[in-house]
Amino acid sequence: MPTRATRTPRSPRAVRSLRTQHFLSLPDLSPAELADVLQAGLQLKKERARGVRRYGATALANQHVALLFEKPSLRTRCTFEIAVRELGGDVIAPPQDVAMGEREPIADVARNLERWVSAVVIRTFAQDRLVEFATAAPRLHVVNALTDEEHPCQALADLLTLAELFGELRGRTIAFVGDGNNVAASLAQGAMMLGMHVRLAAPADYEFTPQTVAQLEGLARKGATYTLIRDPRKAVQGADAVYTDAWTSMGQEAEAQHRRKVFAPYQVNEALMRTAGDAVFMHCLPAHRGEEATDEVMDGPASIIFDQAENRLHAQKALLMLLMGR
Ligand code: CP
Ligand code: NVA
Repeated sequence: MPTRATRTPRSPRAVRSLRTQHFLSLPDLSPAELADVLQAGLQLKKERARGVRRYGATALANQHVALLFEKPSLRTRCTFEIAVRELGGDVIAPPQDVAMGEREPIADVARNLERWVSAVVIRTFAQDRLVEFATAAPRLHVVNALTDEEHPCQALADLLTLAELFGELRGRTIAFVGDGNNVAASLAQGAMMLGMHVRLAAPADYEFTPQTVAQLEGLARKGATYTLIRDPRKAVQGADAVYTDAWTSMGQEAEAQHRRKVFAPYQVNEALMRTAGDAVFMHCLPAHRGEEATDEVMDGPASIIFDQAENRLHAQKALLMLLMGR
């Protein structure tokens, strides 16, 4: 396992409310705001572990948050429900068949919800649907709970997990092996903002788009770098963390068979983890065990996948508190 932090990453300091109204994409935060969310998440986690709930316990008092999910979810839905309640707010979850534009236009759904709730957490397909919703109801706080293109709440939890483990993330290396998908894109954005080295090991046609690469380069701070490396063995060498995700994301089921063939050389197994050295293993879950990662790796000593899942709660509590807390 890699060298762990020997002390708390930084002593607590006052964190500020976020300037952004919505959280549709990781770069909606400045690098300093991202650091604040991570710090607040670690503080909330510590208090919860001690059975104390002072920090943020009434931040969402008298506020409702609506959860609109057009795709399945275990982790995101559960952790947002718990997060809102632990911050003193309440959640509503309108059924899927009335939620997002089939029964009435998306903009009308947004304008209705704007009259009742303070925030809407949305899991949908194209990022454009999220933007359309947020544009129609500017008084709402709209939070991206996963789109085809991005999964910024997952990235917050992943970076919090790494910060917990390593302290300062500047100069650390993360190797994402597999599909250059929504999870990979948000993680890379955040990692670049914090000064990390990001490597993507993806087959041809499954790497980041040129637009995403240009965006990543623009987000780079404190010596951050982005590199595409086709060979997964080269990509993971010396990395501090190896990350993978499903080869077939929600909505791509028709391509599953083809993707299994294309991604087979990108499986994270014990041999690849040995090549990596003492890296930790990460996965956003749900996993297709035996495809993108083997049981031995998922359940092995380097795996921190359930820490990531746990940290969804703390990261999202911090996000909501700083986005809309009173
Ligand atoms: N990682 C993640 O977003 O999990 P769910 O799809 O279960 O919410
Ligand atoms: N890339 C996956 C992530 C699931 C949390 C998907 O979009 O289905």
